Amino acid sequence: MSLKHFLNTQDWSRPDLDALLAQAARFKRDKLGGELKGRSIALVFFNPSMRTRTSFELGAFQLGGHAIVLQPGKDAWPIEFDLGTVMDGDTEEHIAEVARVLARYVDLIGVRAFPKFKDWGYDRQDHVLKAFAKYSTVPVINMETITHPCQELAHALALQEHFGTADLRGKKYVLTWTYHPRPLNTAVANSALTIATRLGLDVTLLCPTPEYVLDERYIGWAKDNVAESGGSFQVSHDIASAYAGADVVYAKSWGALPYFGDWEPEKPIRDRYKHFIVDEAKMALTNNGVFSHCLPLRRNVKATDAVMDSPNCIAIDEAENRLHVQKAVMAALVR
Ligand code: CP
Repeated sequence: MSLKHFLNTQDWSRPDLDALLAQAARFKRDKLGGELKGRSIALVFFNPSMRTRTSFELGAFQLGGHAIVLQPGKDAWPIEFDLGTVMDGDTEEHIAEVARVLARYVDLIGVRAFPKFKDWGYDRQDHVLKAFAKYSTVPVINMETITHPCQELAHALALQEHFGTADLRGKKYVLTWTYHPRPLNTAVANSALTIATRLGLDVTLLCPTPEYVLDERYIGWAKDNVAESGGSFQVSHDIASAYAGADVVYAKSWGALPYFGDWEPEKPIRDRYKHFIVDEAKMALTNNGVFSHCLPLRRNVKATDAVMDSPNCIAIDEAENRLHVQKAVMAALVR
């Protein structure tokens, strides 16, 4: 049997995802356990983090395990990923050695590797994560690359808690693009689309223009998922109709893929859509809808203070849930 990783929720069956969420809810009620006793996880960060690092380190500790953080190029050697390269540049060792050596030490490897933001055709292949999964002989966990599956589970658990049911079918869900001064990763947007359609919600992807529609892979997953789950999926560029009657508003900013790597022409376009900010007027159109965001969030750029401080904002609950769902993922993978 091939080694089981947690690279994308789409690779996991619905019963297995449901089991992870149920286990996460149990860990939330009863936070200490021995599931990782004597076990360890290497957390490899190529990019900054607050929530992911804290929750993984703490989660391993609370289950009796140990986490080791490595930042290649900072406190660990820079890693080469291309095969057949003459390594006479800045990289000191190859992923073929890094992943196999780490796997001799630890029981799990977590990887955070954002896109390089130069060539989407290259970045969409998720080279770094796939290389770890290829060479590692222990399970690999995606801590955010071009998707963010741990965030998906935390988001799903927060919605289940808010609505008081694991069955979210029939809820109207809006994934809205928001302005940010820089073009950001599409990972959380790809992931939100993936999990919301997987759970059978009626999903609207709201973005300023067709250029902001997500990569066809994730649009394809969304369509496949609703065919299976009984939900629905549509793209909209109209704020009022997208928000009307929504039960859930999830916000994220991302760069328009046609401008990937050549961002200057995108800037005047994104600057025209600052009004996509999530504010009280838009939330008033919803069905007393709940608001969330993966964080970090720039207040009064992506969402107003009033929205963030509203009782309908569950972003802090979602962030807390990162701890519980990741414990469930680690426990499931070390069995
Ligand atoms: N949401 C999230 O992954 O947060 P960090 O970037 O702080 O880890």
